[in-house]
Amino acid sequence: MSNELSVNHLLGIKYLNRDDLELIFKTADQFKEVINRPIRKVPSLRDITIANLFFENSTRTKLSFELAEKRLSADVINFSAAGSSVTKGETLVDTVNNILSMKVDMVVMRHAKPGAAIFLSQNVNSIIVNAGDGAHEHPTQALLDAYSIREKYQDIEGKKVVIVGDILHSRVALSNIFCLRKLGAEVMVCGPTTLIPKYIHSLGIKVSHNLMEALEWCDIANMLRVQHERQELQYFPSVREYVQQYGVTMRLLNRLSKPITIMHPGPINRGVEISSEVADSDQSIILNQVENGVAIRMAVLYLLASKKEMNFAQT
Ligand code: CP
Repeated sequence: MSNELSVNHLLGIKYLNRDDLELIFKTADQFKEVINRPIRKVPSLRDITIANLFFENSTRTKLSFELAEKRLSADVINFSAAGSSVTKGETLVDTVNNILSMKVDMVVMRHAKPGAAIFLSQNVNSIIVNAGDGAHEHPTQALLDAYSIREKYQDIEGKKVVIVGDILHSRVALSNIFCLRKLGAEVMVCGPTTLIPKYIHSLGIKVSHNLMEALEWCDIANMLRVQHERQELQYFPSVREYVQQYGVTMRLLNRLSKPITIMHPGPINRGVEISSEVADSDQSIILNQVENGVAIRMAVLYLLASKKEMNFAQT
């Protein structure tokens, strides 16, 4: 296995190969050990400056990246679109080039537009890490999700994972499908017909519209939030009917022939896609996912920064 990534940016799981995924996980194992020590900091990114540009709301991803950067001793600057000059009409490229001129080495960006991270990587001179671009990809979420499965089951190969809910508007679903398939898992999506994209069969995965059937099939269920902010239309008759058909409750889990693991990328809507009892149960690894996010993001930032340093050394 190579000790460097095949890519210069993290734009999506689509662009990573299996060796990249294994390298990120092995590196995250080392950083997970670091962040559980009494002194949770290493000097790996000392003198590297990282800008976190969040053009869209975030709690977990933003704080997790910031913590990962600080644990690696990077200098960190944070930018939120609200209150910035973006509201005065400045373009994305101009905004980022102004920030880069302050001697910034890496950019972590969340943006509402699909493809924004790819566009940026083609138009500015910096390492770009996609922290979620519209309904396109959320690569670090998929990495931390797969890492959490690997942590629980030792291996991902052959595991059956169902992703339940709003697949149509979900960047988490697409990145998870790419990641789990590359790692040899079997993947199913489950939700109302209106929330499953028509191209889904081309990704080599199963589709079900029956939650009980999907839960019985899987080892792991990754529950997604209904993304009302990306829906211009009503995709199901009412939230109550959605809950009846696609909400996971303890009563449903207790009817299954075997225990399954419950995941959720957050933010969760308690009582909609997942009951409070399930979210807080022993079967849930939701908070392990959040914990693992820091180690995964440390690994991604470290591997991308190391690669740039190697390239500098060669030129
Ligand atoms: N999972 C996730 O992306 O959460 P945030 O929107 O809070 O970052």
